[in-house]
Amino acid sequence: MYPPSDDSYFFAEFLKKYFSNLKDKNISYLDMGSGSGILAETAKKAGIRDILATDINSHSVKHVKALGIKAITSNLFSKIPKSKKFDLITFNAPYLPESKYDKLPDTSGGKEGDEVSLKFLKQAKKHLNPNGKIFLLISSQTPIKKIKKFNPSIVAKKKLFFEQILILKFSY
Ligand SMILES: C[S@@+](CC[C@H](N)C(=O)[O-])C[C@H]1O[C@@H](n2cnc3c(N)ncnc32)[C@H](O)[C@@H]1O
Repeated sequence: MYPPSDDSYFFAEFLKKYFSNLKDKNISYLDMGSGSGILAETAKKAGIRDILATDINSHSVKHVKALGIKAITSNLFSKIPKSKKFDLITFNAPYLPESKYDKLPDTSGGKEGDEVSLKFLKQAKKHLNPNGKIFLLISSQTPIKKIKKFNPSIVAKKKLFFEQILILKFSY
């Protein structure tokens, strides 16, 4: 299971502010790739009640369920009914290019680093309510060219030791 790291804390802070500015907290929220559940817990603490966490890693899912959050094991949206829509979907994606040292699904987003994010964006669009939003965290190490085709806007960024992390917003 992915332990909360710099990217997780950055995203959690961002979401905390986002939720505190929300007038209507009656939204449905999907925490994709929930890991330790840090983002789902941030939502819960902010008063969001309709939360679903998913991860490809069943240990993460077990951990998140124990926090009292509804969670399912799923490869992206494969186990989420087609008809299920959300007002907010977040993904702190595995964003690094694969290397001989790192092929873990926690951190590696495929050969180039953008594959999981691109698959996610394609599928997530179909699970958004009208006026819904997607926040995706990637890094300066993730190729952004294909991701740009989904029309993101950068809503937050932070410089870390060897990379910059970015939160991208998508709304359709
Ligand atoms: C960078 S970690 C983020 C974990 C947590 N959200 C956080 O912010 O600390 C990426 C997470 O995505 C999950 N993941 C990777 N590929 C996935 C996929 N295809 N479907 C669902 N989850 C996936 C990993 O298991 C991991 O928990």
